[in-house]
Amino acid sequence: MPLEETVELLRGFRGQFDLGQEFVYAIFSPDESEAIGGTGLHTRRGEGVFEIGYWIRASRASEGFATEATAALTRVAFEVCGVERVEIRTDPENAPSLAIPRKLGFVEEGTLRRISHGSDGTPLQADAVVFALLREELSGSPAGSAPLETFDAAGARVL
Ligand SMILES: CC(C)(COP(=O)(O)OP(=O)(O)OC[C@H]1O[C@@H](n2cnc3c(N)ncnc32)[C@H](O)[C@@H]1OP(=O)(O)O)[C@@H](O)C(=O)NCCC(=O)NCCS
Repeated sequence: MPLEETVELLRGFRGQFDLGQEFVYAIFSPDESEAIGGTGLHTRRGEGVFEIGYWIRASRASEGFATEATAALTRVAFEVCGVERVEIRTDPENAPSLAIPRKLGFVEEGTLRRISHGSDGTPLQADAVVFALLREELSGSPAGSAPLETFDAAGARVL
């Protein structure tokens, strides 16, 4: 992607974040020298619900980064943003993706048939497994004990 397009994409993410519309995050290596993936708290499931999505650069897969980021964002969703439900949807054939909510104690609620859409809204006609964690389930789940430090835009500590 040309640099100008990347800048526009990031400006869009930042604008949505500041307006409280969508909360997209980059995932960096522990020394912050490399962008290795992306994640986010998405608002598309309606009021009081966040959906978490994730991707990790293939060269850094299976190092636990998606699990760590998802656990941290799950705590942020409940403890900072005060939502009632955090949802994760995955392709039934995507074993690494399915492993993440299972490891973190999300409840597998079922499979929606031919529900997935591409980012442009085009139907993909793919099934999606729906996992969710409710507010009262956080403390008893592996996600609830994830290490977490959070800061606001001014750098002040939140959690
Ligand atoms: C799915 C994805 C985000 C996982 O990221 P990751 O950082 O590699 O995930 P983690 O290392 O935290 O955890 C993956 C888990 O899946 C397991 N796993 C990997 N391959 C597997 C396989 N073929 N079968 C079963 N489990 C598998 C890993 O062992 C690990 O579990 P463990 O920690 O108990 O060993 C990454 O592979 C990715 O970006 N894929 C392409 C985009 C995508 O599919 N996004 C999800 C859309 S729903």
